[in-house]
Amino acid sequence: MAFDTLACRIKFPALARQINGKPAVFLDGPAGSQVPRQVIDAVSDYFIHHNANHGGEFATSRESDAIVLKTSQLLAAFLNAPNPESIVFGANMTTLTFAFSRALAATWKPGDEVIVTRLDHDANVSPWVRAAQDRGVTVRHVEIHQEDCTLDLDDFKRKLSGKTKLVAVGCASNAVGTRNPVKEMAKLAHGVGALVFLDAVHLAPHAAIDVQDWGCDFLVCSAYKFFGPHIGILWGKLQLMQSLTPYKVRPAAETLPDRWMTGTQNFECIAAVGAAVEYLFETTRLAAGASVSSRQSFVAGFQAIEDYERKLGAKLLAGLAELPSVRVYGITSPDRFAERVPTVSFTHRHKKPIEIARFLGDRGIFVWHGNYYALPLTEALGLEPDGMVRVGLLHYNVAEEVDRLIAALRELEG
Ligand SMILES: Cc1ncc(COP(=O)(O)O)c(C=O)c1O
Repeated sequence: MAFDTLACRIKFPALARQINGKPAVFLDGPAGSQVPRQVIDAVSDYFIHHNANHGGEFATSRESDAIVLKTSQLLAAFLNAPNPESIVFGANMTTLTFAFSRALAATWKPGDEVIVTRLDHDANVSPWVRAAQDRGVTVRHVEIHQEDCTLDLDDFKRKLSGKTKLVAVGCASNAVGTRNPVKEMAKLAHGVGALVFLDAVHLAPHAAIDVQDWGCDFLVCSAYKFFGPHIGILWGKLQLMQSLTPYKVRPAAETLPDRWMTGTQNFECIAAVGAAVEYLFETTRLAAGASVSSRQSFVAGFQAIEDYERKLGAKLLAGLAELPSVRVYGITSPDRFAERVPTVSFTHRHKKPIEIARFLGDRGIFVWHGNYYALPLTEALGLEPDGMVRVGLLHYNVAEEVDRLIAALRELEG
């Protein structure tokens, strides 16, 4: 198996961007990845050939509906979800989760409990906290191990009880890259009768998602993190998506997926999500050396991407370890790299995160600063209000880019 990063890079027009005569270094993937040409083309193709609203008795409307159906089928394969009709689209993960939390909370009563974590993006915390407040429900927060930014599973087990109605947890941290043992957590949650809502936004570009193997009840992701356009996706188990009561307008259909899709959809983006998934199927098929795309080639190809990203991440962490002013948060031990994705956050002894980001930005190296909405974590680490500097690697990043970042940071060592 061989993953060819250069063959991928040329498919991303934005990566040709130059700053001061040098190629820009895109290390801002966790805030949104760049997109391959086919995703851009899908948006234009939609507008030129198929632009129409849903449910009309004429060509463009039928084609538009067919595009939505095709993308749902592609996403079902992407998530290994059994039913395409229980996949719904929305503005973004945050908006989908706020709307969905309201419907789910309607099944809760005072005395019930929900569990969220300190490692999660606030979009998988605040919607549940607010919904719990509305229903007189108690929220329990799973703590982290500060030394490596992993979840404290003993704390999780202690907080889980017969009162728990929901466990909301992320698959990977968008701040420090930790991968959570979601399959194990889902099993424990189901053992007490709780439902499981997974935030796969950060994991989606890094590893193959498998809702059936992980045993979750709901999973959300955002296409702009996995080489697609700005749109959110929610999958839920068929029976739950049918039986829960959505907040919807009366004329909207009661059937799936329409009952969960409020208002007119972003059809051009839905078309482009399909193209992003096709890009990933093609990339993983090539990496797996398979002649046709299948779930097997997808999983094997993603493993090749994971191996590539792990090597690049190891190089990044080794380079940062040589800089005395830099302190990295999260897992740094190479023998534990399977427990993380290559999203790395650090602080600097002499400079604020915003100063580092500006210094690097001026040199054409794009990184993020602050808390990136992983506020529960930066609060738990005592890093508010400045947060950390975040470097995110994706499969289109290369070793020379890591070298440029480390060389620039070395200039600051004085
Ligand atoms: C882990 C994680 N969850 C949720 C979100 C929110 O996603 P969206 O921007 O689609 O609302 C983000 C965005 O950065 C994220 O990284």
